[in-house]
Amino acid sequence: MSNILIAPSVLAADFANLQRDIEMVNNSQADWFHIDVMDGHFVPNISFGMPVIEAINRHATKPLDVHLMIEKPERYLEEFKRIGAANITVHYEACTHLHRTIQQIKDLGCLAGVVLNPATPVSVVEEILPDCGMILLMSVNPGYGGQKFIESTYEKVRKLRKMIDERGLTTLIEIDGGVNQETGQKLVDAGADVLIAGSYVFGNSNPLEAIAGLKNIKRV
Ligand code: DX5
Ligand code: ZN
Repeated sequence: MSNILIAPSVLAADFANLQRDIEMVNNSQADWFHIDVMDGHFVPNISFGMPVIEAINRHATKPLDVHLMIEKPERYLEEFKRIGAANITVHYEACTHLHRTIQQIKDLGCLAGVVLNPATPVSVVEEILPDCGMILLMSVNPGYGGQKFIESTYEKVRKLRKMIDERGLTTLIEIDGGVNQETGQKLVDAGADVLIAGSYVFGNSNPLEAIAGLKNIKRV
């Protein structure tokens, strides 16, 4: 697959100029808006909630990829669907009944994904893999933007790529944290399909060019 999907992370946008930054992404080669929801429990940080996402969705012309860094995400799935989520990803580490939660996301008509923290091995998704549209591998510890990329992620991507290909599945591999042009290229070479980028895009003097550079990454 050579069409890599790009999802700029709104967490790194200028919240006082959110509409401007959303229009920038609308006019870019990006594919999705990545939306980080944090609850101050599962991760130490708190980001933004439903009213902000609903407002983003009023202006966004591309699907919302909602990453739930919250405990018991099953409590809010319907609400996230209502306010515009196209994809919903939940953490393996935050779900006691992961299989049920993934089915609930699918029943809502959303693309369902499981997220793994850096210390969680890819082997834990073996049974749930056929039910998932996507697996998101964290390449930083969740909770903050602008952190340093964890190098062991490349090996995890290779292992997961093998698991997916061996089973003949079409599950997407998405990566979150510390993605830039250099790490992005190596991730795609290892088998990644979707790149999330926050500070690399919104902290760039030319965000449109940053997105275009990521979008043009080819698997070698
Ligand atoms: C971290 C979030 C990421 C974050 C990535 O917990 O899940 O989506 O915005 O930011 P960068 O690309 O700056 O590492
Ligand atoms: Zn995220």
